[in-house]
Amino acid sequence: MLDLLIQNASLPDGRQNMSVAVQDGKIVEVCAGLQAPSAETLDAQGMLLSPPFVDAHFHMDATLSYGLPRVNQSGTLLEGIALWGELKPLLTPEALMERALTYCDWAVAKGLLAIRTHVDVCDPRLIAVEALLEVKKRVAPYIELQLVAFPQDGVLRGAQGASQHMKNLVRALDIGVDVVGGIPHFERTMADGALSVRMLCELAAERGLMVDMHCDESDDPHSRHVETLAFETQRLGLQGRVTGSHLTSMHSMDNYYVSKLIPLMAEAQLNVVANPLINITLQGRNDSYPKRRGMTRVPELMAVGMTVAFGHDCVMDPWYSLGSGDMLEVAHMGLHVGQMTGQAAMRQCFDAVTSNPARILGLQGYGLAVGCNADFCLLQARDCIEAIRLRATRLKVFKRGLLIAQTPASVSSLCLAGRPPQTTWAI
Ligand code: FE2
Repeated sequence: MLDLLIQNASLPDGRQNMSVAVQDGKIVEVCAGLQAPSAETLDAQGMLLSPPFVDAHFHMDATLSYGLPRVNQSGTLLEGIALWGELKPLLTPEALMERALTYCDWAVAKGLLAIRTHVDVCDPRLIAVEALLEVKKRVAPYIELQLVAFPQDGVLRGAQGASQHMKNLVRALDIGVDVVGGIPHFERTMADGALSVRMLCELAAERGLMVDMHCDESDDPHSRHVETLAFETQRLGLQGRVTGSHLTSMHSMDNYYVSKLIPLMAEAQLNVVANPLINITLQGRNDSYPKRRGMTRVPELMAVGMTVAFGHDCVMDPWYSLGSGDMLEVAHMGLHVGQMTGQAAMRQCFDAVTSNPARILGLQGYGLAVGCNADFCLLQARDCIEAIRLRATRLKVFKRGLLIAQTPASVSSLCLAGRPPQTTWAI
């Protein structure tokens, strides 16, 4: 006897009328038209059954702090960093945890079941680190949270000096943070930025950890830290374990240089995370017209076989006043900013918020195949493209075969592909 049988589902790869059978929290069968005794049976009515959404880049220590202690008036990256600096001394573990747990509730409702969050390690008290380690434990039954030790003020820069920030970062790793972060473009000089990349990659290699750096998050066409990141990845044998986040300077780089850079990145098996909602709002701020979009070269990086994800980055924090934990909104923006309107490209945008970030996080048992964890969500859409178009309602969200969230069908069902009900068209 099965625990759960879902029938008549569409899958992200285009298969229709599919059945997915679940036993003991695992997927035990995926095939067309399965009939079998089950404790629970769900007719998907042709709607899309998707593996859960995954966010490869977020800042959970800052989320939902909008307006604390004041609102970012200019809406710029630098005022956001300054504002975060004002907020940090005021943080308490209790309030930070409450905001993070609230966001995790929002995430579950949106079928977002795995999040890689950067956590600022420059506060010597490590309040945010300890609070998010506790949140990670509490949400483990429904969200897989991965923490990155993120030196927001730079490891070689800052009032407390280089060694202190690096010590804090190492301490954060010692108490359970998973991934080594960095911010080379924010160090004082290009040379210091390159040195920080080397030091942090060596630290990751020594400890057998993954790396995920905020890298070249600027409009400077001469920012070159991603080149250094690719080089250090190769030198230290970290292929496949290193992620460059943002990489917005690649938007502005000379095309000849990029024609050399992308093959180097591919050779190093670098992963890439673009953050379309944030890149389109924070980059190009010093431009008059035309204004640069600022998002990295997503279609070109995908074309050489690199793993590229779209991240949410911020929700209602010092850098971004909007957002709701909806990775389909992220994919929707990425699709537009990257002009990824071809059929295959639109499907790639869906992959960029599901299977691609799952690979970047190294999630085990992710996917809709026999042997995978029974984690998935039923969307009110018939395929991936329609899901992005409608930012589809998450009808039901399952974790290990158990229903953990549900949302009533939206009136946007009237906008599903095909004719609206009770409407007769002449052609
Ligand atoms: Fe970020």
